[in-house]
Amino acid sequence: MSKPVSLVTGVSRGIGLAAVHRLARDGHEVIGLSRSAPPAGTPCTFVPVDLSDAAATDAALKEITQRRTISNLVNNAGVPVPDRAGEVTLEGYELVMAVNVRASLQAMQACLPGMQRQRYGRIVNISSRAALGKAERSAYAIAKAGIIGLTRTWALEVGKDGINVNAIAPGGVVTELFEQNNTKEYVEKFAAATPLKRLGTPDELAGVISFLLGPDASYITGQTLFVCGGMSVSSSMI
Ligand SMILES: NC(=O)c1ccc[n+]([C@@H]2O[C@H](COP(=O)([O-])OP(=O)(O)OC[C@H]3O[C@@H](n4cnc5c(N)ncnc54)[C@H](OP(=O)(O)O)[C@@H]3O)[C@@H](O)[C@H]2O)c1
Repeated sequence: MSKPVSLVTGVSRGIGLAAVHRLARDGHEVIGLSRSAPPAGTPCTFVPVDLSDAAATDAALKEITQRRTISNLVNNAGVPVPDRAGEVTLEGYELVMAVNVRASLQAMQACLPGMQRQRYGRIVNISSRAALGKAERSAYAIAKAGIIGLTRTWALEVGKDGINVNAIAPGGVVTELFEQNNTKEYVEKFAAATPLKRLGTPDELAGVISFLLGPDASYITGQTLFVCGGMSVSSSMI
């Protein structure tokens, strides 16, 4: 039997890199996108692209989907821009929306015809616990809340084609993104405010991505799974 072909964005490090390893172990053939390459030996076909560039993204996706039918799409690439409410810049807003939302829309549209032809597809969009509100992350909160809306909307439209669409909203996960965008004091405070009293690991997220792409998730669509150590139900959310 041929392996399912899975397209993952943001594979050079963090959650995306962990997802590549996990999916490869679980029998997927993985095609990965990001600007920089993942470490040598990472089990995916790497296609370099800057997802903030709409035309380059379109060209890369066309090239991939002309050659292969994608069964599983993981819209993982994302960037936050720290921004106080009064200081949000259009430049920051546009970058965050481009990488988190617009590129996800383009990837879905590129993969959709193939998924519809084979009457099967799985899409997992990576949102964030910040969709519920996070100080100094206006653009990021807009983008990640938007991802939840898109997930629900796409699920309504493409369920009839045998395509499931779900989102994962991570809490704090130990990756470059989290550590570079938050002070050490904040990371400690964040872990203390999390019901499980620790941050998550990229592997813990990769396992949930694999589950949502696997046979046991066949009747789940339109959902957002908070993988956040309980942070989304914490009364001391920060
Ligand atoms: N870590 C957390 O605590 C956390 C919490 C909630 C949600 N999330 C979400 O989880 C996802 C993965 O985050 P992470 O923590 O693994 O982040 P990360 O370690 O910073 O990795 C982000 C990935 O996205 C890629 N990327 C960023 N900008 C890109 C661009 N313009 N074009 C192409 N690829 C780009 C990066 O590759 P290049 O830089 O090489 O391009 C990298 O592979 C993101 O959507 C993030 O918002 C993370």
